[in-house]
This record gives sequence, structure tokens and C-alpha cells, in this order.
Amino acid sequence: MPPRPRPARPEDAEAIARIYNDGIEDRLATFETRLRSAADVAGWLEEGFPLIVVEEEGAVVAWASAPPYRPGREAYAGIGEFSAYVARSERGRGLGRTAMDALATEARARGFWKLVSRIFPENEPSLALCRSLGFREVGIYRRHGQLDGAWRDVVIVELLLAD
Ligand SMILES: CC(C)(COP(=O)(O)OP(=O)(O)OC[C@H]1O[C@@H](n2cnc3c(N)ncnc32)[C@H](O)[C@@H]1OP(=O)(O)O)[C@@H](O)C(=O)NCCC(=O)NCCS
Repeated sequence: MPPRPRPARPEDAEAIARIYNDGIEDRLATFETRLRSAADVAGWLEEGFPLIVVEEEGAVVAWASAPPYRPGREAYAGIGEFSAYVARSERGRGLGRTAMDALATEARARGFWKLVSRIFPENEPSLALCRSLGFREVGIYRRHGQLDGAWRDVVIVELLLAD
């Protein structure tokens, strides 16, 4: 059976947290350092933003989400701030792309007009994924935050979803 993307369900929370924690521990994907629990992810599901998992042979192996870019700001209501995470042992097999394609389809169906994110310049797999999906690299925020006490730059990316 090929990997299958679908909307996340409450029973996926533990796998989603485990996969996110792979990315947090790698220190290449995010400024976040606090490991997440299934309860944290259950809260995301309650918020109701687009959250896609990719299932392969009965196991969740990747996910992508699009929470609001600036919650409460009406003008930005159709902008999702995406994340994509693939289980460490499963990267580079097209699962990130599968998750992001499904996320873009879901976001478009909900009337979103844009996905944005910020990516560490050193995160070549993530930059490659975005390039492959047609994201534009808008520019670089210098010294945008500190990770483990070191200043880090981030590349701003955007994908227009509507014509
Ligand atoms: C970034 C990530 C989501 C990409 O998912 P993936 O399943 O590994 O990537 P895919 O196999 O779908 O590849 C997507 C594209 O990126 C390219 N790519 C993937 N890994 C790459 C690597 N290590 N170096 C260069 N290019 C790479 C692929 O060739 C493919 O390009 P193509 O469509 O032009 O052939 C995944 O590697 C991951 O979970 N990384 C850790 C968490 C993270 O960094 N998340 C992003 C935070 S913004």
C-alpha cells in the first residue's frame, strides 16, 4: 500500500508528538526545545487547524500542519503557518512532499490563500522540499532568535494557494 495522507485524528496524537520530537531533538528544524506530549497535540486537534498525517502500513510516519499565522487578525485569516515533520528514519522518501501536497489541498479547500514559514538556512531538506513545491524564498531574517544560546537566521518562505 502506498503512503496515504489523511486528516489527523485524536488517536494519532502520540505518533505526531513522537515525530515532532525527532525534529526538536535534531536542532535543525525549529527554535522549539520543549519536547511535546500526546496531550499537547490533542490540543492542536481541538483548535481545528489543518493537520494532515501520512499513514504507511498502519503507522503514522509524517505530518504537516497549518495553524493560523497571526491568530485574531482578520486580514490574515487565510494565511497558514505550516510545519512538516517526517519520522527520522523515513526521511528522503517523498513523505514530506506527500504531507505538504495534502496540506496545501486542504488549506485551499478551506479558503486559505497562502502558506508561510521560516526555515533555518542550514535546513537543506526543508528548503529543497519548499522549492520543489513552488514556494518562494522571500528573504532572510538575520538573528531572528537563539537556539541553545546561538543566534540563528531564518529564510522566509511563502506559497500562494489561490490564483
Ligand atoms: C524537511 C522534511 C519535512 C522533508 O521531508 P522528506 O520526506 O525528507 O522530503 P521528500 O523526500 O518529500 O523530498 C522533498 C524534496 O526535497 C528534496 N530533499 C529531501 N531531502 C533532501 C536532502 N537531505 N538534501 C537535499 N534535498 C533533499 C527531495 O529530493 C525532494 O525534491 P524533488 O521533489 O525535487 O525531488 C523532512 O526531512 C523532515 O522531517 N526534516 C526534519 C524536520 C524539519 O526540518 N521540518 C521542516 C521544518 S520547517
